[in-house]
Amino acid sequence: MTLHTRLGDLLGVAHPILNAPMGGGDAPGVLAAAVSEAGGLGMIGGTTAGGADWLRDQIGVVQAATSKPFGVGFVSHLAGAAGLMAVALDAGVRVIAHSFSDPTPFVADAHRGGAVVICQVRTLDDAKRAADAGVDVVTAQGTEAGGHTGEVSTLPLVPAVVDAVHPLPVIAAGGIADGRGIAAALMLGAEGVWLGTRFLATPEAGVPVGYKEQVLGAGPGDTVLTEVFDLAAGIPWPAGVRGRSIRNPFTDRWHGEEAALRAERRDSRSVDDGIAANPLYAGEVSGLVTELEPAGQIVGRLVAETEAVLRERTAAILRGV
Ligand SMILES: Cc1cc2nc3c(=O)[nH]c(=O)nc-3n(C[C@H](O)[C@H](O)[C@H](O)COP(=O)(O)O)c2cc1C
Repeated sequence: MTLHTRLGDLLGVAHPILNAPMGGGDAPGVLAAAVSEAGGLGMIGGTTAGGADWLRDQIGVVQAATSKPFGVGFVSHLAGAAGLMAVALDAGVRVIAHSFSDPTPFVADAHRGGAVVICQVRTLDDAKRAADAGVDVVTAQGTEAGGHTGEVSTLPLVPAVVDAVHPLPVIAAGGIADGRGIAAALMLGAEGVWLGTRFLATPEAGVPVGYKEQVLGAGPGDTVLTEVFDLAAGIPWPAGVRGRSIRNPFTDRWHGEEAALRAERRDSRSVDDGIAANPLYAGEVSGLVTELEPAGQIVGRLVAETEAVLRERTAAILRGV
């Protein structure tokens, strides 16, 4: 059984289910390999402190584990994105994703390298800009999403983007963690889904065990969309983009006190502060993520759940029609 959409055909996968290319080492090669091997499209988060060497190693991990397609995604407004993309293309990666910037400077090189180009957006204007730039696929990321995101929710954003970039295929991201969410996204006109928070709670995700436990324990109202970690670390993000994290003592202290945090002008956190002071980027859908589960198993379960929801709900609702 496959979940068949145009996107799956374009990417060469059985199921149009992607793990989000979570940076900082959160989505390493071992996660991408497990998702691809299960019939989805595994994505490495290509922006990390390890730079080109780390990325080359992680691509090697995937290629040693599977011959199936996989991709790499970048935080593209940060310096070095073009060089990292070149590393991925040289290594044979054929799906490239950009996020947080105008994709125009990257598209021609990626296409020359034979890659499908995905761009993740948070507004209608950015969706149109990505389509005009010549990307092949647009990911519409709602504000429910974990990590850095915008202001508009997935439910209104996805159909608006589908209409705006037609006939390009659209991937829905933000707030999806089970077959019900996938079925809903497909009904909105998306041709695939891109899940971050669900894949954090896997043995393969590259975050500490304590972080995974926070995701498993969090309810839907336990996250906050905040710039406090970016202010503390001095990392710039585009206007309208903030980070969604599970609340912790650092967000409790500083969220709403941004002016004072700016005035401090130095990062007073230490590594020893651990999950109390460092971002626990995760989405509102943490409330639906209650078990640590291997990534490949998640893909299989998502496919089965989506099939069941589409068959059973549709039959029940249209009974007698
Ligand atoms: C821990 C974490 C790190 C993320 N890092 C990135 C990143 O480096 N680049 C990116 O484009 N998106 C990143 N995202 C956002 C995801 O691409 C995606 O939009 C989001 O996870 C989808 O929402 P969900 O978390 O509800 O599944 C990150 C998300 C999380 C949870």
